[in-house]
Amino acid sequence: MLQDKITQYTEEIRAFAPSSSADVENFRLKFLVSKGIVKNLFDEFKTVTPEEKRTLGKVLNEFKQLAEATFKEAQEKFGSSEKQQAQQKEGDLTLPGNGFQLGSRHPISLVRKEIVEIFKKLGFVVSEGPEIEDDWHNFSALNFPPEHPARDMQDTFFIKKQEGNDITLRTHTSSVQVRLMEAGKPPFRAIMPGRVYRNEAISARAHCFFHQVEGLYVDENVSFADLKQTLYHFVQEMYGEGTKVRFRPSYFPFTEPSAEMDISCTICKGAGCNLCKYSGWVEILGCGMVDPNVLENCGIDSKKYSGFAFGMGIERITNLKYVIKDLRLFSENDVRFLSQFETELI
Ligand code: PHE
Repeated sequence: MLQDKITQYTEEIRAFAPSSSADVENFRLKFLVSKGIVKNLFDEFKTVTPEEKRTLGKVLNEFKQLAEATFKEAQEKFGSSEKQQAQQKEGDLTLPGNGFQLGSRHPISLVRKEIVEIFKKLGFVVSEGPEIEDDWHNFSALNFPPEHPARDMQDTFFIKKQEGNDITLRTHTSSVQVRLMEAGKPPFRAIMPGRVYRNEAISARAHCFFHQVEGLYVDENVSFADLKQTLYHFVQEMYGEGTKVRFRPSYFPFTEPSAEMDISCTICKGAGCNLCKYSGWVEILGCGMVDPNVLENCGIDSKKYSGFAFGMGIERITNLKYVIKDLRLFSENDVRFLSQFETELI
């Protein structure tokens, strides 16, 4: 019985003359799959007598080899089956996916966000204004008289000269403070993040554009103590409890009195290092009480209201957090630099 079947199928296989890859596939389906003839004959083999086993075992194995070799030869002749071809074209869908790389947040964006969050908790809102600004908002309203040398503190890019009110790229976001005060009524409690421009030669320590967050608080009875406490709180949140602050007298046309604020060096904690030039302190911002002239320029009664203002460079704040020695890295968009920062799912 088994012998007869083997003989019959052997003849069929010997006579197999495929003319397409479909024939090859049909051959495979008929003989070689798990419910195919070869497997069936092996199952039947288990039921025969021991004598038959002795003779048929070898015959059956030869039959199997014949079936496999015939298939292989036919497959080589006609290429792989259409199904396999389709699989190759689409790729193997059972393989794990490649995934795609997520971008990371720019360090300036990360730090800007952090600064904004800290001030938001204190009730400050975010206020924005144009980067192309006129002389009034960038200078005059802020108590920079025409031809005043303080204008040279900020090397300005001029876009258009126009009688009494040149058009410039803003050199600080204090211009937004003016716009805010002109448009509303006190109290004001706002921060102004944004990009600013200064005509400076580009080097590791200076750039022709950078980012600022300025702040303004105007209400009745606002004092220098409020300014100090607000900024002290900011520093504790940003750089950790115990970070020290100190205020040094300074000058800005739009604040009186004015100060610069230093913090104890975030790297060496005040012991002295390269970053703080071995002084233990690093300057992070300018601040002061809003000059009454500025309030009046914006239509606010300076007898009734007082306020404080401050301004910091986000690059500097970032630098102290991540120790980035060269400012140019921030604007070169080198992914090797950028990919080191936090990836955030939006
Ligand atoms: N506008 C100043 C600057 O760009 C910073 C500053 C803002 C100083 C507010 C005092 C008060 O340098």
